[in-house]
Amino acid sequence: MQSKDLLQIAQEFGNPIYVYDAERIILQYQRLEKAFAKVERLRINYAVKALSNISILKLLKNQGSGLDTVSIQEVRLGLHAGFTPERIIYTPNGVSFEELEEAAHLGVQINIDNLSVLEHFGSKYPSIPVCIRINPHVMAGGNANISVGHIDSKFGISVHQMPHILRIVQNTGMHINGIHMHTGSDILDIEVFLYAAEILFDAAKNFTELDFLDFGSGFKVPYKKDDIETDVEELGKKLTKRFNAFEKEYGRDLTLAFEPGKFLVSEAGYFLAKVNVVKQTTSTVFAGIDSGFNHLIRPMLYGSQHEISNISNPKGKERFYSVVGYICETDTFANNRRISEIKENDILCFKNAGAYCYSMASNYNSRFRPAEILWINNKAIVIRKQETMDDLLHNQILYEDLKN
Ligand SMILES: Cc1ncc(COP(=O)(O)O)c(C=O)c1O
Repeated sequence: MQSKDLLQIAQEFGNPIYVYDAERIILQYQRLEKAFAKVERLRINYAVKALSNISILKLLKNQGSGLDTVSIQEVRLGLHAGFTPERIIYTPNGVSFEELEEAAHLGVQINIDNLSVLEHFGSKYPSIPVCIRINPHVMAGGNANISVGHIDSKFGISVHQMPHILRIVQNTGMHINGIHMHTGSDILDIEVFLYAAEILFDAAKNFTELDFLDFGSGFKVPYKKDDIETDVEELGKKLTKRFNAFEKEYGRDLTLAFEPGKFLVSEAGYFLAKVNVVKQTTSTVFAGIDSGFNHLIRPMLYGSQHEISNISNPKGKERFYSVVGYICETDTFANNRRISEIKENDILCFKNAGAYCYSMASNYNSRFRPAEILWINNKAIVIRKQETMDDLLHNQILYEDLKN
């Protein structure tokens, strides 16, 4: 999609606003499918947490995707979007046992990452098939906040605890139908991923009735020019070969599953915000936008760098700006960035705003969450309205005795 389309959307629907390019999501889905075309049974389960709008879920369903969910609410969103329970895997961490039971009763695939929960669940429901999330103790990416397979991570059951897992499985008679790992977001080196995959293959040999091996996700997408990107085509070649050999050795049909979030939706998303103020200080020029970390928190949370362009003045002379929000905290989107000359009321466009952007938005400072637009077949469709004062007040109750 082009800048002129984005500008028109901002003019027509207001701002701040999120825009998602459907074609880009579909292309990414197809790219991943193609990279693993030689795997007979491939399952792509989109990670709902990245962007959970039901129209996005439906778009991916139409491509043949399943869902990866981490909360009972995500499971329910998936069902609402039309997914059947068998197409949903539920991989929670630290949730209540009741929530796990609720998901199991809905018929979704349970993925357990804790020994005590495994024992409890297996004792109570030995006939419900369960997947086990292994922690391979491999750090795939560079950022400890988003690398979750390392030794200090709270996720997964340590692969060194395999004897204990097997004891629980034997004692309860439970049925393990899948084995899973997720080393974390932003795989920089596919050799590291393949190394972790070997650990999963080894772990899988302990179970005789597996239907699938789930390799999680973590495909890195570029955020700026010349940024590192996971080479999914190369990974596809190498992992396919290894997976197909393992399947033969295992002697039973196996599905290869992934659960990408960022890879599918990050680059499809744009966040548009208007410049409220341009403020010169002794050290910099601030461009203050009508948004803040209430709408896009990744730069402050992870130090992520979203490319920012001035789509109102794309050909203007470039100058240096610090782009900040209107929240009463430090909410710096970008420091000392070269952007074409900014005037008040210009529209800035943040790239890679599809994954972990809207889904992490909040009402901090009592601001409304923005609208979401799907750009599909050259048309802009509203898939979520901007919130209103009614939404902010919806669940609040004014205590009777305070009314006068
Ligand atoms: C278990 C699990 N699977 C999949 C994902 C999706 O990861 P990504 O968005 O990097 O593809 C995550 C992200 O946190 C995750 O925790």
